[in-house]
Amino acid sequence: MRDKSGIECLQKAIFLYGAPASGKSTLGKALAERLGAGFVDLDERIVAEAGMSIPEIFKTRGEPAFRDIESKVLQEVVSASYEKLSTLNFELSTLTVVSLGGGTLLRDENRSLCEENGTIFCIDTPSDEELARRIGAAPGSRPLGDKAKERAAHYASFPNRVAAFFDAQSSLVVVGRGIAPAILAGRNVVADETVARLWSARLGVSPFAIIPSGEEHKTPVTVAKLWRAFSERGLGRKDTVVALGGGVTGDLTGFAAATWMRGISWINVPTTLLSMVDASTGGKTGCDLPDGKNLAGAFHFPKLVVIDTDFLETLSPKLVADGRAEMIKHEAIGGRSWSSELELESGEGDFSRREGAGVSAKEIAENLMVKVGIVREDPLETLGRRILLNCGHTVAHAIEKATGYCVSHGEAVAIGCVEEAKIAVRRGLASASWPEEFAARFAAAGLPTSLPDGISLDVLVPLMRGDKKREGGVVTFALPCGWGDVRGIKIDLSKESL
Ligand SMILES: NC(=O)c1ccc[n+]([C@@H]2O[C@H](COP(=O)([O-])OP(=O)(O)OC[C@H]3O[C@@H](n4cnc5c(N)ncnc54)[C@H](O)[C@@H]3O)[C@@H](O)[C@H]2O)c1
Ligand SMILES: [Zn+2]
Repeated sequence: MRDKSGIECLQKAIFLYGAPASGKSTLGKALAERLGAGFVDLDERIVAEAGMSIPEIFKTRGEPAFRDIESKVLQEVVSASYEKLSTLNFELSTLTVVSLGGGTLLRDENRSLCEENGTIFCIDTPSDEELARRIGAAPGSRPLGDKAKERAAHYASFPNRVAAFFDAQSSLVVVGRGIAPAILAGRNVVADETVARLWSARLGVSPFAIIPSGEEHKTPVTVAKLWRAFSERGLGRKDTVVALGGGVTGDLTGFAAATWMRGISWINVPTTLLSMVDASTGGKTGCDLPDGKNLAGAFHFPKLVVIDTDFLETLSPKLVADGRAEMIKHEAIGGRSWSSELELESGEGDFSRREGAGVSAKEIAENLMVKVGIVREDPLETLGRRILLNCGHTVAHAIEKATGYCVSHGEAVAIGCVEEAKIAVRRGLASASWPEEFAARFAAAGLPTSLPDGISLDVLVPLMRGDKKREGGVVTFALPCGWGDVRGIKIDLSKESL
């Protein structure tokens, strides 16, 4: 973006738009806080300007007069941020998050003004039930009448969308499309080399640290490289780093942030499906050691997680399948299969539009809620609830080790889930048809469902006993027993067969 004198400058504003009660002010405040940005609520400014409430303005002066005041106030807000920007020498603190009114951009001049001065994020319209819940109206009522429906085409005309936002422990999670560039502008970005190559130019960011891609680089050596880069960048306690990449980049950057000056804040922008639905939330950061995966680490929740489905466009089918495996695991934990059913019943804006990888922002948000729900109950893994997230993983980790990591994590999770479903059947915990039903779901996502040639459970048992959840010979499995039915079961592998 360019300022008035044509000089390249930072993003000046993020405008939040959408139907009444779509959450513009709530998200605006939370987002501004996480971004260290200013916040303006346009409706509040209008009330201050007019000296009366908005319903009073409508009643005494009519809608056209209200719209005139709104345009004037918007113009003032935008020029104020311009002035601040030039006096502060283009510092990041000049970013402003502005929550607009539900009809502010019906006027073309307002829309142009916002487009020229920042990025508009349009929040998808919540369902009538959700609206009723938010504003305390009777369930089943249509609390805001048909306004949102009348304006559906108008709202749908904004390309950058927020499909959902929610709080996950200390992280604000925002899921949408086309929202990453405005968040990343001017920040301290760490990316892996693949993501930097594919996305830097398109996003208009130049990462200050680029790490090599791949699990083999998830090591203390790369963490030390990040510390070096933080030092050269002069990052201090008040600074924030942004991880732009898959689970490896997030885990490493989060861990470097957790340990830099005893902990600085970080923002996570996951770019693989797996990291969107799994690794990005839950606060676990770390790196691998020669003795095992993820052995060095810390809980350090990112203050903001921005999930942008645009990144799915460049994923290979194999990487999509890896993410799908964790999504299906979440379905087993959270219950079947809202993802496809919601798709049918939705129809709000293009909230459920399927992206390049055949996955919509809505599916991701709903799926993530399974993990978020469990993390909320047991944030630091002290209560045993988080064990459910390991569904299929005890067998999966053993498969990865037995094959020298030739089988990808997602593939191993698919096979591990099906094998663990069979263990559940053998222990009388699930119906005989369950493993086949579960397997069909993985197979439909292009994932394998049977053990690789030459590998049997007998081969895997010694490797499972080396699992980090081991206590003596006892391993805690999270056995899938049906949709919405995953159970933590302790099995003594030194005495019992699977
Ligand atoms: N912290 C947690 O709670 C948690 C949970 C699950 C997994 N993990 C970790 O996550 C890692 C696996 O995540 P992952 O699969 O994202 O790994 P990854 O970060 O290695 O990404 C996989 C590959 O995809 C590439 N890539 C990333 N975004 C891309 C894009 N948009 N287009 C094309 N290529 C892209 C990467 O460069 C890499 O080569 C593991 O290290 C695992 O331990 C962490
Ligand atoms: Zn996993």
